[in-house]
Amino acid sequence: MYKLLLRPILFLFDPEEVHYFTFSAIRFACKIPGMSGLFKSLYEVRDPLLEKEVFGIRFKNPVGLAAGFDKDAKLYKELSYFGFGFIEIGTLTPKAQPGNPRKRLFRLREDSAVINRMGFNNGGAVEAANRLKENKTVLIGGNIGKNKDTANEDAGTDYDICFEALFPYADYFVVNVSSPNTPNLRALQEKEPLKALLLALQQKNLSKPSPKPILLKIAPDLTDEQLLDIIEIVNETKIAGVIATNTTLSRDGLVSENKVETGGLSGKPLTNRSTEVIRFLSEKSNKSFPIIGVGGIHSADDAIEKIRAGASLVQLYTGFIYEGPKLVRDINKRILKELKQGTLHNCG
Ligand SMILES: Cc1cc2nc3c(=O)[nH]c(=O)nc-3n(C[C@H](O)[C@H](O)[C@H](O)COP(=O)(O)O)c2cc1C
Repeated sequence: MYKLLLRPILFLFDPEEVHYFTFSAIRFACKIPGMSGLFKSLYEVRDPLLEKEVFGIRFKNPVGLAAGFDKDAKLYKELSYFGFGFIEIGTLTPKAQPGNPRKRLFRLREDSAVINRMGFNNGGAVEAANRLKENKTVLIGGNIGKNKDTANEDAGTDYDICFEALFPYADYFVVNVSSPNTPNLRALQEKEPLKALLLALQQKNLSKPSPKPILLKIAPDLTDEQLLDIIEIVNETKIAGVIATNTTLSRDGLVSENKVETGGLSGKPLTNRSTEVIRFLSEKSNKSFPIIGVGGIHSADDAIEKIRAGASLVQLYTGFIYEGPKLVRDINKRILKELKQGTLHNCG
């Protein structure tokens, strides 16, 4: 229904406008009595076998919505009706900021991909935290970053502010240093600044009566040497895990006209590289920390591949746009089937 009827219409319009329109439509639909139940019955797969404990949190299923879709935590409740086991909000920054000038989001239809240069447009961490106060049902990841006008030397303060604001309401945290759309942000992935940033945040975290898992989200464009550094840093700082990966700067193999646009590429062209990064991290670290696998998951096969490569949980963004909410159900059904058959071992 989505691919046949809805998507052809939605894809006629500007992608960012469609994003906001879809938000309003979902919110409106969920206000109609019975609709949230209908969505749940269509898309949710419930089974104790799908439940999984990762970094101390019990997930009802391992399929999450990736950061960037509900940056400001405006729709997490309604989105949870589409079968996600967890929703990652953000990236949030301390101060609200408009992001880059429009147009900044592009479909690459022939490649089943998207290029974005949103630039952390968001209403600020405090506003999002206020919205999360009402949350009673869905697990929330709080993805945090720095404001565009904050120098890298002062980035620690920005991450701190967001961490404190969201602490009571986020179930886990994600330190995002891998967006290509905030100038110089990726320099924070270098060994020394990254270690310092994570150590300081983890120290603050561990001083709390009930610390929360902190994860690091990395770019798919890191070299093997840099990935080895990441493993060392995760082990040294004792953060809870890694999210692999964010969008890529690579434009290899693209055919769509929009490939010339600046920004981060997501979707199908990212599938293999992000799986490669997951496999590398999992093998070289001897599975010493959990990995959330994200990047180009457009089918149940893609998700299974990431899990077999070492991901404990998976997330989607671009696949959700191209394939619709049925993808969430398909992945959960497939995982459940494989678990029952005994052909999938590192999940559930
Ligand atoms: C429009 C758009 C905005 C995004 N914004 C963020 C963000 O704010 N923070 C973040 O960590 N990742 C962000 N991402 C990256 C996704 O969370 C994900 O890591 C990436 O798109 C790869 O997954 P996918 O191929 O399933 O989309 C964004 C992606 C897209 C397409």
